[in-house]
Amino acid sequence: VNWHDGSLQGEHISQSHKTFGQIAGLFQDQDAARRMDANTIVYTVQWVSPAAHEGALLWGNTTLEPGRVADEYFMTHGHFHQRRDRSEFYATISGEGALLLMDEARKTWFEPMTAGSLHYIAGNLAHRVANVGNIPLRLVACWHADAGHDYSEIAKNGFSARLLCRDGIPALVGEARE
Ligand SMILES: [Fe+2]
Repeated sequence: VNWHDGSLQGEHISQSHKTFGQIAGLFQDQDAARRMDANTIVYTVQWVSPAAHEGALLWGNTTLEPGRVADEYFMTHGHFHQRRDRSEFYATISGEGALLLMDEARKTWFEPMTAGSLHYIAGNLAHRVANVGNIPLRLVACWHADAGHDYSEIAKNGFSARLLCRDGIPALVGEARE
């Protein structure tokens, strides 16, 4: 691990990017989203998977670029774990962010992310990261190899609140749901 930016070097490392086009549908202002460059890389994830047996762990990092769609911060897709008993650690390397958490009753809140902040994500909480600063937000994570990703609830219903820039400050704004 390069502790300057959280990046990984070595064997068994995978990497993926998310472009704006892949996550454009997450944002509230779809007119503003259509004006964005679909090829912009919003975030990059690296992870190392040394083993796949029961109880194995994965380690990874995420770099989330700064930016907004209208007044909504760039963010990751967000997910529940398929196995709701599989928790996860996030730790912030650099940048300013917000860790959005939502329970299965769809109550949403967030924890501020700053260099050195450590976040324990209980296995039954959906989690998403937003970059509320002007530089890349870099974090490392450790989670169970068999946690799985359940994107369906977030893809269908989103989180129950959005993190918007209000007077220059991040504010969690609830949205009316049908
Ligand atoms: Fe996760």
